[in-house]
Amino acid sequence: KKIIIINGPNLNLLGKREPEIYGAASFDEFIKKLRLDYPDVELDYYQSNIEGELVSKIQESDSAYDGIILNAAAYTHTSVAIHDAIGAIDTAVIEVHISNIYKREVFRHKSLISSKCIGMISGLGLSGYKLALEHFKTL
Ligand code: DQA
Repeated sequence: KKIIIINGPNLNLLGKREPEIYGAASFDEFIKKLRLDYPDVELDYYQSNIEGELVSKIQESDSAYDGIILNAAAYTHTSVAIHDAIGAIDTAVIEVHISNIYKREVFRHKSLISSKCIGMISGLGLSGYKLALEHFKTL
């Protein structure tokens, strides 16, 4: 199986950014471990702080992957363009959030992308990515 993790804005700062919310682990360390744990999965990773680049990556990922694990970060709450990109492709997308967005500020309670995703995992830390991978692996 070929899977891609796409991370949105500020997730390049994981490990350093508000560790009490997002944890102390860097994403590079986490992904290294994930690749060791799932040697039979071809796992790609992309991060961008730019909305249009995320839209392009989602478009390019169509039919190139068996599944997309997407943490659109702050764009989750604002981006009609990312909603539309997910709607325009055939590849299934799982929405992941490290924190529980419903436990936080009201402006985070609304996701514009959930309605286009097969499911959403929020609040389980980095395990959310692993659980999403596990789901795609068993499809
Ligand atoms: C996040 C939650 C978003 O509200 C926030 O803007 C992020 C990260 C999460 O993974 O918990 O940047 O998507």
